[in-house]
This record gives sequence, C-alpha cells and structure tokens, in this order.
Amino acid sequence: MDLSYILNQLGEEREQYYNAVAPPIIQTSNFAFDDVASLRNALSDESKVYLYSRGNNPTIEILEKKLAALDGAEDALVFASGVAAVTIPVIANVKSGNHIVCVAKPYSWTNKLFNTLLPRFGVTCTMIDGTRIENFEKAIQSNTKLIFLESPNTFTYELQDLKAVASLARSKNILTMIDNSYCTPLSQKPIEMGIDLSMQTMTKYIGGHSDAVGGVVSGSKEMIRKIFAADYLNFGAAVSPFNAFLFLRGLRTLELRVERSCNSASMLVEHFENHPKVLKMYYPYSISFPQRELALKQMKKSGGMFTIALDVKSADQIEKFCNSLKRFLMAVSWGGHESLAFPVCATMPKENFDAANTDHKLVRYYIGLEDPKVLIEDIEQALGKI
Ligand SMILES: Cc1ncc(COP(=O)(O)O)c(C=O)c1O
Repeated sequence: MDLSYILNQLGEEREQYYNAVAPPIIQTSNFAFDDVASLRNALSDESKVYLYSRGNNPTIEILEKKLAALDGAEDALVFASGVAAVTIPVIANVKSGNHIVCVAKPYSWTNKLFNTLLPRFGVTCTMIDGTRIENFEKAIQSNTKLIFLESPNTFTYELQDLKAVASLARSKNILTMIDNSYCTPLSQKPIEMGIDLSMQTMTKYIGGHSDAVGGVVSGSKEMIRKIFAADYLNFGAAVSPFNAFLFLRGLRTLELRVERSCNSASMLVEHFENHPKVLKMYYPYSISFPQRELALKQMKKSGGMFTIALDVKSADQIEKFCNSLKRFLMAVSWGGHESLAFPVCATMPKENFDAANTDHKLVRYYIGLEDPKVLIEDIEQALGKI
C-alpha cells in the first residue's frame, strides 16, 4: 500500500458521512443499542463494537487503520499519550516475577516505569548498553519476558541492531517492543525487521502542530487484541475523538513535514559539525557518529533532532547561549512546526554542573519548519555571545 493512499484515503468511508473530505469527529462517550440482544452481544466483547468511547470510537478507528498501515502492521491501538502507549502494552505483557531487558538512557518516563513503577509490582529490569548484541545475550535470564528498545534514543541517539535483537529474542521466545518515536515509520519500520510491538508518541511528528498529546502502538492483530482485552480499558487512557481528528489532520502533511525537518537538521549538522565552539556533535547520520553505518543500514533518513556538546567552562555560558537564541523556543518535546532548544543543564541544580562532564554541556535541538538558513544564523549569533 503506498504512502499517499494511507495518508489520504485509507479507512475513510466518506459515503457514510455525506462525502465529507475531512473525517467526522464522533464526539460521543456512549453508543445506544436497538434491543437487549445487541447490547448483550456488545458487552460480551467490546473489542469488535462501538459501546463506549473509552474502548472504540469511529474517528479513532480511522486513525488506527492509517497508523497500522504506516507501520506495516496488522493492527494499532492509540492512547491519550505516548507514555500510555509505552506503559499499557508493557504492563499487559508482564506479571510479578518477570524480568525485562531495556536499553540504557531511554525516555525519562520509560526509565521510571522500568526502574520505579514495575519493581513495586515484582517485575525487575536490567538496563544495558544496547549498542552491542552481546550485552542482550548476557542480560537475558530464564524469566526474561520482554526486551524494550529505543533506537535511536532522543538525546544521544544510540542505536540497536533491530534485526539482530529480534532474531535473538525470537529464538528465546521473548517479546520485543521499540519506541520508534525519533524515526517515525516513515524512516524506520521495526515491525518489518521482526520487532513485535512498535510505539511512537503521536504528540511529536504525527500531530506536528504542538497542540495535542497522544501515542500509538502497532503489532499483530493478536497482540493488539491482547493489550485491549488485558489492560487498555482498565487504564482509561483512550485519546479523545477531537484529538484523534487533530492527529488525522497531522497525517495529511506528515511526509512533507518529516522531510523538511530531517533535511534542515542535516544542513545544520553539516554546518556546525566542525565549529570551534562545538565539542561534540551527536546525530545518527553525522560523519563522526560511531554507529553511522548501522544508522544508514536500518534508517531511511536521519531525524530532525541533533545534540551539541558546547565547548564551555560553566553552566552560565550555556545559559547565556540559550537565552540569546531568538528563533528557537526553549522547551521540552519536539516534532512540531517550531524549532526548539533544550539544555541538559536545565535538568539539574546549577551547582551540580560539572565542567569536566561532557553530558552536562549538551544542548538538544529540534529543527522545525522554519527556513534552515535563519536557524543557522540564530545559532551562530548565540554562539558569538559565549
Ligand atoms: C522518545 C519519546 N518517547 C515517548 C514520549 C512520551 O510521549 P508523550 O509526551 O506523548 O506522552 C516522548 C515524549 O517526549 C519521547 O520523546
């Protein structure tokens, strides 16, 4: 199925809603039944019917069909946030006594799930450097149920060899799940590489306008059905029909926006890679990136985000640099129309800044839809201040 068909047509049965080009927002919590037999039938298996919008809803279903197809998966389930799309599928697949292997430095709330929340319920986790397949082999225990990947991560972009991990996990009957947010399925299709479940935050590129929070997981029909039946309804983390509509709208321009963001980011990386005030550049396709070869092999594009370690001696210099940026907004998140800068030193008390620690000097950039030349000039002028 081609991308244009998925984004513009798939799942849209327009004759059912007056041939409207934009899908309807079915903003209802409840669905009514004509007789007791149909109500009984719906209550017996909510996964197949519209009963209550904490479960299924027609607007959300259009979104799920498109997102599953984008991933090359049989099915998808959307959630009220990306974090819910991590937490609920994981919880639906583990129980007390199970063990999880997770790559080091995942997204902060994924880290909290594995190291704080799940241990309270008897699920343990080993965090490993996922750049080497031997580390997975060593970390797997007899009770390992799940391997959780994030390739690349969204700060220093370490990758995992997805085909190698998938094949190792299959040989040991272990489930694999990946956070594919950095790439989106346009640049990397983990399901086609043998990964069982692939999630992304829709808050970023899918929405694309920084006005809605959501997440999605895709996988086989059987896996998605299991997640729905196990815990999805209990957590109550369904996206609202209105936000589903915003994500559907975002999908119309996804290809154009991702293309622009990635191409502009590459331009900025090339410009600043050898800049005298740049200590180190982090970007999967960059010449200096240690896993560049793997990135070129398994990702169709490098993303719209990169990170620079600034050649500075103090947190004050980083603050001065960031405060001098005029075109970049200073904020968390990414994937919208607007370019962003996020300094690591903002995550710690100023007195903890260690000038000898490169990680403390990192500033992450997300490149939005503005003219990349304007963004280069902006960083240049801010670097000139330090
Ligand atoms: C890599 C990654 N995964 C998951 C999430 C969580 O998504 P959300 O903010 O939609 O809950 C984020 C959010 O920043 C993210 O960057």
